[in-house]
Amino acid sequence: MRIAHISDIHCNYGTDFNNKVYERAVKILNKVDADIVFISGDLTTDGLITEYEYAEEKLKDIEGKLVIVPGNHDERNLGWKLFPEFFGETDFIHTYDEINLIGLASSEPDKDNGRLGRGRHKLIEQGIKKNDKMTIIGFHHHVVPVPNSGRETNIIDDAGETIDIILKNKVPLVLMGHRHVPWAVKIHKTLLVNAGTFSCNRTRARFGNTFNIVDINDDKIEVTVVNIGREKQKKMIEFDFNDGRCKNRYYDPDAEI
Ligand SMILES: [Fe+2]
Ligand SMILES: [Fe+2]
Repeated sequence: MRIAHISDIHCNYGTDFNNKVYERAVKILNKVDADIVFISGDLTTDGLITEYEYAEEKLKDIEGKLVIVPGNHDERNLGWKLFPEFFGETDFIHTYDEINLIGLASSEPDKDNGRLGRGRHKLIEQGIKKNDKMTIIGFHHHVVPVPNSGRETNIIDDAGETIDIILKNKVPLVLMGHRHVPWAVKIHKTLLVNAGTFSCNRTRARFGNTFNIVDINDDKIEVTVVNIGREKQKKMIEFDFNDGRCKNRYYDPDAEI
C-alpha cells in the first residue's frame, strides 16, 4: 500500500501560499500512484472562510482518495467550525484492505501547540483493537522535538501519554506535519514521521517544499522524501519488521545520498 503524505499547504491570499509550487507539486503527486493521499493539516493559514474555499478549490487538482485532519492554522478564527463543513470529520478510524488509519485533530482553537486528550487516546486504542490489521495514526502536531525546526514550544501537551500508548501498542507508524521540515525517527517499534510543507513559502533553510511517499507492505515500511523544487526523491527511512532493522538516512536535501 502506498500513502502520499502531504502537509502544510497553507492556502492563503497573503504571502504564505505559493501557487506555482503547489501546481508543480500536484503534478508530481499525481504521478506517484498513491492509494491514499493523507493531508496532515494546515490547509489554510488563518482558518478564514475565503481560505477554506480556496483550499477546497485547490484540492480538486489532486487525483485519488484524500484523507484529511486539521492543523493549528485551520482552527484559528473559529475555523474549527468550518473544517467539518469543508473536509468532513476531524477524528476517525478508516479501515482499508491492509491497514486501519486513525486520523486525529491535535489542535486547540487559537493555540499553536496541541493536545489529543483522553477521548482521542481511547480512539487510538479502539482502532488498534478493531481487527488484526496494522494500525497507523496521523495528526498535525509532533510528539517529540523535530530537529532543524527551531525552539520547541509546539509539542502536544500530552505527548508523554500519547507516546506511552503508541509504544506500548507497538503502533508501527505515526504521520505528522506542522514543523515544515521532513524528518523521521524510530523509537522502540514505531516510526515517527513528519512531512515538510507542500506549498508554503515558509520553508526552513534549504529544506524547500517537500512531501513524503510511504510504502507499506507485510514486512517493511519505507518513507521517501520528494523535493518538489528539485523534482528529486530521497529515501529517508526504512524499517523491516522481520529483523527489526531500521535504516535512517536523516534527510538532508544537500547530502549526496
Ligand atoms: Fe504549517
Ligand atoms: Fe501547524
